[in-house]
Amino acid sequence: LGARRRLLEERVRPFPDFPCPGVLFRDITPLLKDPIAFRTVVDLLEAHLKARYPQIDFIAGLDSRGFLFGPVLAQRLGIGCVLIRKKGKLPGPTESVSYALEYGQAELEIQSDAVEPGEKVVLIDDLLATGGTMCAACELMKKLKAEVLECAVVIELKSLKGAEKLKPFPVYSLLQYD
Ligand code: PRP
Ligand code: HPA
Repeated sequence: LGARRRLLEERVRPFPDFPCPGVLFRDITPLLKDPIAFRTVVDLLEAHLKARYPQIDFIAGLDSRGFLFGPVLAQRLGIGCVLIRKKGKLPGPTESVSYALEYGQAELEIQSDAVEPGEKVVLIDDLLATGGTMCAACELMKKLKAEVLECAVVIELKSLKGAEKLKPFPVYSLLQYD
């Protein structure tokens, strides 16, 4: 696991002061561009979820970078992927929750019939910062009475304490930064 994690670390670029002063932006585009690194991300997440959870009904991908990993991972697990989107993108009846971002304010939505009460869902995004986005996604699942098994991310920015905000929901991350 050490060598594979190092490969992933080499494929994440830090950009100071993007998209605004004071934010050190972790850019995953090199990771997506390298097929070995991208495959490694999916391999590691797949192995973790298979070992940890005997039954998962759906993967829920978070708009927009969670969509890069959610459907691929769901295919590996042989299950479906549902979408949690930014406001105004989903047709039909929706539930919505507004939240504060590391830089800004936004609203997330899910279609009201996306998951049934009691279904077991793993949420996936590229990165956990303050946890505001993931927390809103958990609230959406709560509104639909689904069970959140875990919040999985590729990158966790530890110093922003997102995992604490998400308690009691477990957080799993492949790479951690301070
Ligand atoms: C980023 C990132 C996470 C979220 C993390 O997305 O992809 O979804 O911020 O921040 P938080 O833990 O402080 O909420 P962003 O809202 O920038 O949108 P994008 O994926 O559409 O670029
Ligand atoms: N990198 C990428 N996406 C982000 C970040 C970051 O540091 N913070 C919030 N979303």
